[in-house]
Amino acid sequence: MKLKKLLITFLVLTLVFAFSAVGLAETYTVGTSAGFPPFEYVEDGEIVGFDIDLMKAIGEEMGFDVTFEDIAFDSLIPALKTGNIDVVAAGMTITEQREEVVDFSNSYYSADQSIIVKKDSDKDISVIFGDNDISVQTGTTGDMWATEKLKEKGILTGKIKRYDTFVLCVSDLVNGNVDAVVLDSPVANRYAEMRPVDVVGIIVTGENYGLAVNNGNTELLDKLNEGLRRIRENGKMAEIIDKHFK
Ligand code: ARG
Repeated sequence: MKLKKLLITFLVLTLVFAFSAVGLAETYTVGTSAGFPPFEYVEDGEIVGFDIDLMKAIGEEMGFDVTFEDIAFDSLIPALKTGNIDVVAAGMTITEQREEVVDFSNSYYSADQSIIVKKDSDKDISVIFGDNDISVQTGTTGDMWATEKLKEKGILTGKIKRYDTFVLCVSDLVNGNVDAVVLDSPVANRYAEMRPVDVVGIIVTGENYGLAVNNGNTELLDKLNEGLRRIRENGKMAEIIDKHFK
């Protein structure tokens, strides 16, 4: 009799613990900057894309929930520092400069920079020289490259126009307000499929994308790396790549 009672108490306790564990699944706020297809963009009012599916898959694997916040690219790291977001998933390149303030996961994608021009404009790679105007997304590696290698060296004598999103950069290009846009190669390729623009050059920068957390947040960083490892192993990563890059 006593044993039965004990057993029942034990069972009840186990169930209570099991349910509370489910209910207590941590929710992380993921910051991204849409307008960067196929990594993150808005479709029917919803943020979708490779990075979104990636974070959901890692969360599923590691037992946490995710919500997404769409903010300007150059506000992502500040938002991480103030704790407004927990993770950045935004096709963010791992750079030494950024590594001073945030910690990056293992890399999950590679990219270079591309130059795009308006379709049928007769412009070629020489558009990055001389009196041409180039637009970039503020604070991106494309912005840094154009600023340091073109503008500051006097190779480009025209303007660099900075925007919060690449959607605005590309619109400006299509409308004939700038001569070229410098942006990540996978995204340039996608825009060339969606909008009247052509890729006329690739600058081999050899960038690697990582998920970022605040400096020292090793608990979350470990979960992200373990999640990445698992979805690579179980085929989920390949599925997400197929879905967005076919
Ligand atoms: N890879 C580039 C960088 O880190 C561009 C990233 C832009 N990302 C975005 N979601 N708009 O600077």
